[in-house]
Amino acid sequence: RLLKRSVFFSVQDEAVDKSNFKNCNHILLLYLFVYSQVPLLVEIYAIEGNIFRLKINEVSPLKSRYEVPDVLIKEPTTQRLSIAQKEAGILVLTCASEDRKLHITANPFQIELESKGETVLSVNTNGLLYFEHLQPPPQNRCITRSNGWKLKLDTFRQENQEDLGLWQEEFGSFLDIKANGPSSIGLDFSLHGCEHVYGIPEHAETLLLKNTSDDDAYRLFNLDVYGHKIHDKMGIYGSVPFLLAHKPNRTSGIFWLNSSETLVEINTKAVMEHVPSRSPPDITKQRVVPQTDVRWMSESGIIDVFLLMGPNPFDIFKQYAQLTGTQALPPLFSLGYHQCRWNYEDEQDVKTVDAGFDEHDIPYDVIWLDIEHTEGKRYFTWDKKKFQHPKRMQELLTRKKRKLVVIIDPHIKVDPMYTLYSQAKKKGYFVKNRTGQDFEGICWPGSSSYLDFTNPDVREWYADQFAFKSYKGSTDILFVWNDMNEPSVFKAAELTMQRDAVHHGNWEHREVHNLYGFYQQMATAEGLIKRSGGQKRPFVLTRSFFAGSQKYGAVWTGDNVAEWSYLKISIPMLLTISIAGISFCGADVGGFIGDPEPELLVRWYQAGAYQPFFRGHANIESKRREPWLFGDENTRIIREAIRERYTLLPYLYSLFYRAHTTAEPVMRPLWVEFPKEQETFGVEDEYMLGNALLVHPVIEQEATTVNVLLPGSDEVRIPVFQRGGGVVPLKTTVGRSTEWMTDISYELRVALDSKDFAVGELYLDDGHSFQYLHKKQFLHRKFTFHKNVFSSSCADEIGQYHTKCVVERVLILGVQKQPTSVTVSLHDGKDKEVVFTYDAKSSMLTLEKLLLNVGADWEIHIK
Ligand code: NOJ
Repeated sequence: RLLKRSVFFSVQDEAVDKSNFKNCNHILLLYLFVYSQVPLLVEIYAIEGNIFRLKINEVSPLKSRYEVPDVLIKEPTTQRLSIAQKEAGILVLTCASEDRKLHITANPFQIELESKGETVLSVNTNGLLYFEHLQPPPQNRCITRSNGWKLKLDTFRQENQEDLGLWQEEFGSFLDIKANGPSSIGLDFSLHGCEHVYGIPEHAETLLLKNTSDDDAYRLFNLDVYGHKIHDKMGIYGSVPFLLAHKPNRTSGIFWLNSSETLVEINTKAVMEHVPSRSPPDITKQRVVPQTDVRWMSESGIIDVFLLMGPNPFDIFKQYAQLTGTQALPPLFSLGYHQCRWNYEDEQDVKTVDAGFDEHDIPYDVIWLDIEHTEGKRYFTWDKKKFQHPKRMQELLTRKKRKLVVIIDPHIKVDPMYTLYSQAKKKGYFVKNRTGQDFEGICWPGSSSYLDFTNPDVREWYADQFAFKSYKGSTDILFVWNDMNEPSVFKAAELTMQRDAVHHGNWEHREVHNLYGFYQQMATAEGLIKRSGGQKRPFVLTRSFFAGSQKYGAVWTGDNVAEWSYLKISIPMLLTISIAGISFCGADVGGFIGDPEPELLVRWYQAGAYQPFFRGHANIESKRREPWLFGDENTRIIREAIRERYTLLPYLYSLFYRAHTTAEPVMRPLWVEFPKEQETFGVEDEYMLGNALLVHPVIEQEATTVNVLLPGSDEVRIPVFQRGGGVVPLKTTVGRSTEWMTDISYELRVALDSKDFAVGELYLDDGHSFQYLHKKQFLHRKFTFHKNVFSSSCADEIGQYHTKCVVERVLILGVQKQPTSVTVSLHDGKDKEVVFTYDAKSSMLTLEKLLLNVGADWEIHIK
């Protein structure tokens, strides 16, 4: 673990003896003099939208330190900071446009962030700022891997025991040579009044982050961990160094922009707070309040941290998206059900499984091929025997209006006869080892080299590999799955690339480790867009991810196990990934490893149907588990679950549009929707899908009842867990895949709140192109129930999209008495009687055979 491997020192008391402040327009520069007179530059920026940025770097490092590129979508727009107070060692700054203040003290170095008179967050309260500045290597260090190195090492060890660990490190039988010596950094933050913190995926852990004082720190280090343990803070496949803190009146966030191995310690405690009293004026009272201290430590790079001030959860999501981007709008098919297995053996197998869905009347959109479909794990090729006619196979799927996803991993088989390999080798596109040769490691194909996706030229070349003329046998219904991109290297320390491997720009792997998968997905998505001439939305699933991966597609939680505990943990894991900006996420339905008992499989389908990415997947050693293999009754229930998913697609797609445009997570923890209700803050067995549906999957074996928390005063009045006040658009029936459903009519399910009000929306476009963006070809409708009138109006005048599709049925839940008449008025001024049924027992009013165009304005009057 990092703490063991690196020696940290903190600046604490000795550090800041001389500081000076410079005010450069909107940026504030401070020089701190730390250790042996090595100056650090501190930059503080106020950023538009209630964000502060703090950057700390050496003023003149021996060589540049790594600053994460390509994650911020643009250089953030800064705002003017003005000096409100300046005296020896104290500086108070205000941000002109908002009610924000910064209190900076020089000795000890601390910063307090204040918003509307409230101290939200402070920096370096515990004096844990440290910064290992780059130094020349110890003079007598002459260790090589050649013969006799041990002898020299022993001599060295005796002479300078301490320094040794700083310049090289052993990990079992592996050696990490640190060419630049120790370079770790760290800083602490205090979140005032907060005892609930969330985020920093990916861990198989609870939604609420735990205190780490007696336990391991949360580790952010992308690793391939087969059957990862539950309740473990070790890093797994992805990392998003973004933490959210919440209390009833404020949500705030810390985004630590660093892609090297990172540890996060969390310590929630009670502190005394002074409360000024008015009478008598000179007496202050004290009260106990919670505080969470968060300490971040990274192996290298610089300190570059964004402090997001909220104040509400949706402001935080927007602020974070303003920095890293929003969720890419997925093609509609990718919100359907995906059928995967390691492996679907051959073309006949694909055909049979595909037909199985039709025989059993189960909709599905995509069939997946794992690594065995290739010629000896050479990606972009097809096994000559098993997949002799890949185009023919895809034509069959095209006729069925379905898609194919194939796996493409980042490791490339070392084989001079393999064009991809020989080309990349010739161009120098592989990651190098520290002696300048192509790095070689073991993965599925055996000896492999790894494409250096951090290099923009490599990404461009790689993107071009997806062109139909390059990728033989591919068609436009083929989409991509990027796996093993932590990157996974068998027989290596922690099964990943050695940290002293070298990337483009001469950066060591340790600097960019957590970005590797991010870049592969970026290049793949780019490739799919390019092959369509910029016309079509890509779909790329990745296992490894970083902050900003949402811009390139979907993620899944890797190799889970077919056990109830993994079904249960999938909910907090997906919620955590969602609030860290990546809405399009899912877990393997059924559990990847092992064989789920039928009850578990059924429950998993029911849960997965209400999660953003919905894919059944199984390991090569697992028994076949297509949905119809577990008897009629189980097939029926699974069919029901998948069909429910398909009827829900209009709602889900509309939620993705919101995630794309306004950064609202599709799947949200309850506290996001009920930020003042403390009892929701730790809930992780249920969640909100958008703002209207509350989902509580059954995750216990043999459960016959579940306890469901229904937060909100009197908002939930109906037993279907649709929140009162919302309108959910659904399809009235399903088709064989999403593409079969274009013309199926809509049902609008209206659930009234206690004021007999409801509002909701529907987003609609062609489902696959970028015309919604470039030509504004979309419909965004708003449905409102107010004063007994249910109306459809335009939510965005800019969008235009022609559809013949109609609203056929409206269900209004919570109608207290039987209406005497229901009429619909169209915008041509004509009124029409509507046939309705009213069920007093469930307070439900059903309006049928409406045939109202979904793009038109209309009003339904209920008297
Ligand atoms: C590991 C992935 O997590 C799994 O989903 C996949 O089936 C195997 N690699 C084989 O490609």
